[in-house]
Order: sequence, then structure tokens, then C-alpha cells
Amino acid sequence: MKVRALLLGLVAAGLTATAAAADPIVIKFSHVVAQDTPKGKAAEKFKELAEQYTAGAVKVEVYANSTLYKDKEEMEALQLGAVQMLAPSLAKFGPLGVREFEAFDLPYIFNGYDALHKVTKGAVGQQLLAKLEPRGIKGLAYWDNGFKSFSANTPITKPEDLRGKKMRIQSSKVLEEQMRQLRSLPQVMAFSEVYQALQTGVVDGTENPHSNLFTQKMHEVQKHMTLTDHGYLGYAVITNKKFWDGLPADIRAQLDKAMVEATDYANQIALDENDAALQAVRASGRTEIRALSDEERKAFVKALLPVHKKMESRVGAETIKAIYEATGFDPDKL
Ligand code: LMR
Repeated sequence: MKVRALLLGLVAAGLTATAAAADPIVIKFSHVVAQDTPKGKAAEKFKELAEQYTAGAVKVEVYANSTLYKDKEEMEALQLGAVQMLAPSLAKFGPLGVREFEAFDLPYIFNGYDALHKVTKGAVGQQLLAKLEPRGIKGLAYWDNGFKSFSANTPITKPEDLRGKKMRIQSSKVLEEQMRQLRSLPQVMAFSEVYQALQTGVVDGTENPHSNLFTQKMHEVQKHMTLTDHGYLGYAVITNKKFWDGLPADIRAQLDKAMVEATDYANQIALDENDAALQAVRASGRTEIRALSDEERKAFVKALLPVHKKMESRVGAETIKAIYEATGFDPDKL
């Protein structure tokens, strides 16, 4: 009897050990946009590669569209360890106390993706990610989205057209100043609430890369959009540093590899995804889309460029200078 009990005990212990060995490490990856966006697709790509490279030792659960957490909550959840991975917009790191990322929001600071990549793929980008570490956060990569257009229910061809309008922005002081410079009224709001706020008139307009506008159906509640390309929106993929450092080294190496490849993928698809979304908005016939003439574009540049100087104290003159140097920024060529 005793031997039988002992044997049963050993079998049970063996099963527990097997179950523990088979229990995957779970990475909850939360984000606020639709799956069918550059970020949504890149998160799925990371999941696919991470699970493949670790032969199932890691399971990545992607929660899109704010289904797990909204903007502000997700940052807190990461710090508490309730989620392991996020890719917030660079405009959303101010509340964490890392203001330098808001330099990415400065109007017209990047004259296209090539200039942007000089920063995100270079030393300045790495130095900025390192600023997250004292906050218990590790920056893993930059993922592109794209350049923003202004939208509203009335036509926008000149800066004055946004005067007095309530404009939804992300939680960035630079974006707040950008809107003030246009004499509009900035309203910080979680991404998940924007569609309804536009629909009910809580805000009059907003700014988005086209993939975000289209996948949230904002074009159905915005009659006019102008291709201003006045600012960039992209992401830092971040993880809880304690979690990341605590991973077995071989697993971390495979996840690093998956992240490098998912990042290449993200940055390859971003432009096409945004172009396709623009075509889809056009095809819907719900929003009138305008391009700016050279003259009109210059008026926006003139109105918005003073934001760079005004925000030096917020994001750091050194950060702005480092970006200018990396990209060869020249205000006369805008
Ligand atoms: C927004 O709030 O407009 C964006 O940050 C959403 C996103 O993650 O692209």
C-alpha cells in the first residue's frame, strides 16, 4: 500500500514537473489600434515569429483596439507587470516623465520617412530609448506609422481654418502647443474615445495618419481632410525591464531576433498601409480630401515652426539639436 502511494505520488510529481516545463512564458501585448494597421500587423508578426523561434516556449497574446487597456491605463499596467509589452505612440510618454519623445511631435521636424529613420535607426534613437530604463521600462524598437493629416467638418486650406475648433490630440504638450499656435482648442483624449467624440461634436476635428483615421471609421464623421503631412506619429515598443531581464538568456535572444524582424516588417508596410487607407477613405466618398498647394503648405509651415523654439524647455534644446543634426534639418527647405 505504502509503495503504491509512493508510486502515485511520484507520478503526480512527475506530471506537475512536465506541466511546469510545458507552461509557456506568456507575453501580453496590448495596444489601442485596429489589427488592420501597421502596428496591429506588426504585433501579430512579432507573435508569429516569437512563438516560432522559441518553439512555443513563449506565447504572445495580442490585445488590439483598447480591448485590454486604454492609453493611460496601459502604461500603468506595464509598470505593474499586468502586461509585458506595449507599443505606445511616442506622443504618450510625457506622463511617464520622459518628455524627450515629444520631440517627435514637433511639426515638420521630419521631411519624410528617410529623415525620420536617421533618428530611429541611429544613435539619437538609442539614446532616447535608454531614458526609459530608470522608469523600469526597456525600449526594444521603433515602429513606424506615418505622417498626419488634419480633419474637420469644414474645409481646411489655411491655418486660420482651424481657429476656434476643438481638436482632439494625444497627451503631448508639443501637440497642445501646435494646436494653440493655430488658435484651436486642444482636447487630450484616449484614442478609443475619438470616434464618438467626433460623432457627437464633443470635438470638431483631429489629426491622424490615414490608417488610424480609416480603421476607426473617423472618415464617416469628418467631412473634410487635408493632406498636411505636418507631423509624424510612430511608436516605441516597450517592455517591463524586470520581466525582460528575468527571461532566460536563450529565450531573450530569440525574442530579440523576432523583434528585429517584426520591426523591419512594420517599417516596410507602414507607408503602403497608409496609402491604401487614404485610397479607401477616398473611395468611401464620405470625406473630401484636399492636397495643399506649395503656397498653402508654406503658410502651415510658417504658422507651426515657432513650436520648435517654444517647446525647447519641454523636450530639451539638446534633443531638438541632435535630431536636427541627424536629419540635416533645414527650415529653408520645408
Ligand atoms: C492616437 O492616440 O491617436 C494614436 O496614438 C493611436 C495609435 O496608437 O496609433
